[in-house]
Amino acid sequence: MRNIMSLKKVLPAVLLISNFLLISCGDRQNGHYFKGAIATVHPRATEIGENILARGGNAIDCAVAVGFTLAVVYPQAGNIGGGGFAIIYIGDSSYVTTLDFREKAPIFAKQDMYLDSAGNIIENASLIGHRAVAVPGTVAGLLEMHKRYGTLPLEDLLNPAIRLADSGFAVYEILAGDLEKSRDQLAQFEATRAIFFKNGEPLSEGDRLVQTDLGETLKRIRKYGRSGFYGGRTASLLEAASLEAGGILTRTDLQEYMPVWRPPIVFDFHDLKIFSMGLPSSGGILLAEIFNMMEGFDLPSRDPYNPMFVHLFVAACKRAYADRAEHLGDIDFVDVPMQELTSEEYARRRIADFDPTRAIPSNMIDPGVFARESESTTHFSIVDQYDNAVGITYTINASFGSKVIVDSLGFFLNNEMDDFVAKPGVPNLYGLVGGEANKIEPQKRPLSSMSPTLVFKDDSLLMVTGSPGGSKIITTVAMSILRYFQFDMSLKQAINQPKFHHQHLPDILYYEIGALEKNEARKLEGMGYTLKEISAYGNLNVAARKSPDKPWEAEADRRRQGKAGTVY
Ligand code: DON
Repeated sequence: MRNIMSLKKVLPAVLLISNFLLISCGDRQNGHYFKGAIATVHPRATEIGENILARGGNAIDCAVAVGFTLAVVYPQAGNIGGGGFAIIYIGDSSYVTTLDFREKAPIFAKQDMYLDSAGNIIENASLIGHRAVAVPGTVAGLLEMHKRYGTLPLEDLLNPAIRLADSGFAVYEILAGDLEKSRDQLAQFEATRAIFFKNGEPLSEGDRLVQTDLGETLKRIRKYGRSGFYGGRTASLLEAASLEAGGILTRTDLQEYMPVWRPPIVFDFHDLKIFSMGLPSSGGILLAEIFNMMEGFDLPSRDPYNPMFVHLFVAACKRAYADRAEHLGDIDFVDVPMQELTSEEYARRRIADFDPTRAIPSNMIDPGVFARESESTTHFSIVDQYDNAVGITYTINASFGSKVIVDSLGFFLNNEMDDFVAKPGVPNLYGLVGGEANKIEPQKRPLSSMSPTLVFKDDSLLMVTGSPGGSKIITTVAMSILRYFQFDMSLKQAINQPKFHHQHLPDILYYEIGALEKNEARKLEGMGYTLKEISAYGNLNVAARKSPDKPWEAEADRRRQGKAGTVY
């Protein structure tokens, strides 16, 4: 598997001209020609993606259309005001790369910008309002992917989102519920209220959500490309609103924002080769550490809830998350011992003190407050008929980000600044602590947990996976891989069965309702674990096949009622 840069275009344009040619290059599966597989958090986004695949678009075209569509139909997390990561596989050159379109701290950001004069955290300053906003990367990211690998005209990929924004759609149950959960914070911002409230109340299920301002913003992107967002009217309005509200985002921040192509993190787990996101996401490094640490042990082949397996998995997670807090930050700003952290030799040493009979307590100095539950990130997975694949996880951080919509722009701005360490040892929204490596610096990217991931066996792609869940993303993604391949579960089970999570601090083993039976829980408590049952988290939208000769399947997590499909 190569993972060096290649500028090769994915598909000669001529293939798009005739159906005959299109059909001749698809794989035959179950007597039909395979056009692709897709899983996203929203049925409309999946359908629009399916149309792109059906008309011969590649996975990158499809991802761009889905990315813009989710900004309209899933405003909790789908976005143009946030950022994220894409992992991309180009089949014809067996090449894996990643695109970092993570937000950056504005130029005027300061290390102590969320502390009062006594050095204490100012409540909500990194979470709500203009000061919480980092420079958005999503639009630059989607356009860059399209420029390098897309085959369909950009406007074809933006038009479905524009139509949906202009004509509106009925608010669905989950959106109504999420609006209700954030009502007080959303209500603080006039332009947010104007779009998402009616008669002083958040929109309810069945109300029509029309987003003409968002439609206009998308049209400027369609017309002017990158500068339709990072310059012109959008940039002017954004700067003016930010400065007026005491924010620090300027036109210069927007003009200077660039996404970055980065090599993936690659590691082996038995016969699997796994590619995931590198810094500024901690995902790939932590997955490598966790899998490397587990590889030296015999894992049970059937039961993913076996207390011995849970104990080993958690032991690996604790060590990996402790490393995250200490060592990881934006690679453009800090030296990270990446080779060492991801090496098998390091993993062997790190897990050498594993005691199969009891839990080693985490450092209890800063137990932290664990994440308030929010669904504010989303992941989608796509494979196409040309053997390309894209996994994108993108976010505005908290549900509806900073809750700010700038008048006339129509989209939520992120609160990604909270992913930095505002004060060493003080947990962020996801209970994560950290230090120097992830401190705030101008134009630095905050450390992320988003982990779009590809799994290969014998050079064949077998899985595209990823999830939201803040700090829990990494364990969620690890479980999707282990369950499908190691425990040989069906894709549906691998995604939907309850999960567990440990992130070193706080020293608590979290589990989704139903994950552990009483006797399993008792056994783990006997080993020294503090257990806590929590409500559903994560949202795995995955495309996978058990082997290259099996058809692709796609599955959307039941937790958010997304949609998955295969296209023939
Ligand atoms: O980049 C990160 O790690 C976080 N901003 C992700 C937030 C998230 O997953 C929220 N969804 N539940």
